[in-house]
Amino acid sequence: MATNRTFTMLKPDAVEKGHVGAIIEKITASGFRIVAMKLTQMTAADAQEFYAIHKERPFFPELVEYMTRGPIVAAILEKDNAVEDFRTLIGATNPADAAEGTIRKLYAASIGENAVHGSDSDDNAAIEGAFHFAGREMF
Ligand code: RTP
Ligand code: MG
Repeated sequence: MATNRTFTMLKPDAVEKGHVGAIIEKITASGFRIVAMKLTQMTAADAQEFYAIHKERPFFPELVEYMTRGPIVAAILEKDNAVEDFRTLIGATNPADAAEGTIRKLYAASIGENAVHGSDSDDNAAIEGAFHFAGREMF
């Protein structure tokens, strides 16, 4: 069933570089409503579970190290066509391929450290949101 919610993380590099405010401004200016949001840090077990789909990939250990090295901003966002529109807003995984004006084009350093996560399907948006937030934290 299609829903109008997606899940995002502003990754440790975006937090370290002080880009949180600018990225949230861009997200809300693009029509997304914040349903849930917090600063949090994933453990290695959390990151291994969250990115389990990539566990056989060569970059997996590097990805877990990166995603756990500092705090992230986790958020659930609401908008019509949220999953697809948010993937458009963040741009390609590799910032070198990302369109002008996208969050990754503006704020990502490399394919490994790419500033922001966006869910890739409605099902994953629901799973990922529930991974990070209790029902009472969602508005
Ligand atoms: P995300 O899940 O974080 O929104 O990113 P994505 O869908 O655009 O890309 P995905 O293929 O799901 O990869 C997840 C994250 O793994 C890191 N990665 N590193 N070094 C590499 O070749 C490589 N490839 C992927 C990135 O942090 C990517 O966002
Ligand atoms: Mg992905």
